[in-house]
Amino acid sequence: MKKITWLLLTGLLLIGIVVPGCSSGTAKLQVATDATWPPFEFIDTKTTEIKGFDIDVMTAIAEKASLDIEFVNVGWDPLLAGMAQGTYDLAISSITITEDRKKEMLFSDPYFAAGQMVVVAKDNSSITGHEDLDGVVGAQIGTTGAFEIDKIDAATLKTYDDIGLAFQDLINGQIIAVVCDNPLALDYVKENPDKMKTVGEAFTDEYYGIAIAKANADIVGPINDAIAALKAEGKFDELSKKWLQ
Ligand code: ARG
Repeated sequence: MKKITWLLLTGLLLIGIVVPGCSSGTAKLQVATDATWPPFEFIDTKTTEIKGFDIDVMTAIAEKASLDIEFVNVGWDPLLAGMAQGTYDLAISSITITEDRKKEMLFSDPYFAAGQMVVVAKDNSSITGHEDLDGVVGAQIGTTGAFEIDKIDAATLKTYDDIGLAFQDLINGQIIAVVCDNPLALDYVKENPDKMKTVGEAFTDEYYGIAIAKANADIVGPINDAIAALKAEGKFDELSKKWLQ
């Protein structure tokens, strides 16, 4: 083939590769969520859509702050790592604002107050709160629930990538309890009332924030303004009624 043909071909290839990337317009902000945490973020098994309190919150914030977003479903561990590395722009995933996490990512103002709760098998009568945890206790890896179990001397932490597997182990008698956020604990118990129960009250004070990659510092202000406006409008009360018991 002549040199000119090669040039033409190469040129066409380049156009073919580059143009579709450009023509899709400005990229949407990628919002990471670990959709295994009902009723805040979960997959609707009928529609396969990501749904929940957090999804509605983030959608309302994006509308108010004129942000073009798309949700990306990722595991909890990769979500935190990805936020630290700037793989995702934002994350909403029942994320507790902690000092350690603040070193790696930015956070919005708090939008929800939660706490850790203990869930045991329905027929357990010896554990009445987190002080009684004296065996193997399950939590999702890298969560504040896991950090709390670590602080209890008599308890041995068993971590899971997915909290659903911890509840399965609880039902099968492999572990004596699960420690997790109170909205999730109440939701699992509501779905399995004959198999498990919560004991005691929420024993930590935690606040959920939207995580924002350090490179996106410019959207922290607009997101906080949107949160304040939605609070004032009663949007959070409305969503609590819709999703929480
Ligand atoms: N609030 C806890 C934490 O920040 C657990 C959050 C887990 N969220 C999830 N979607 N898996 O550590």
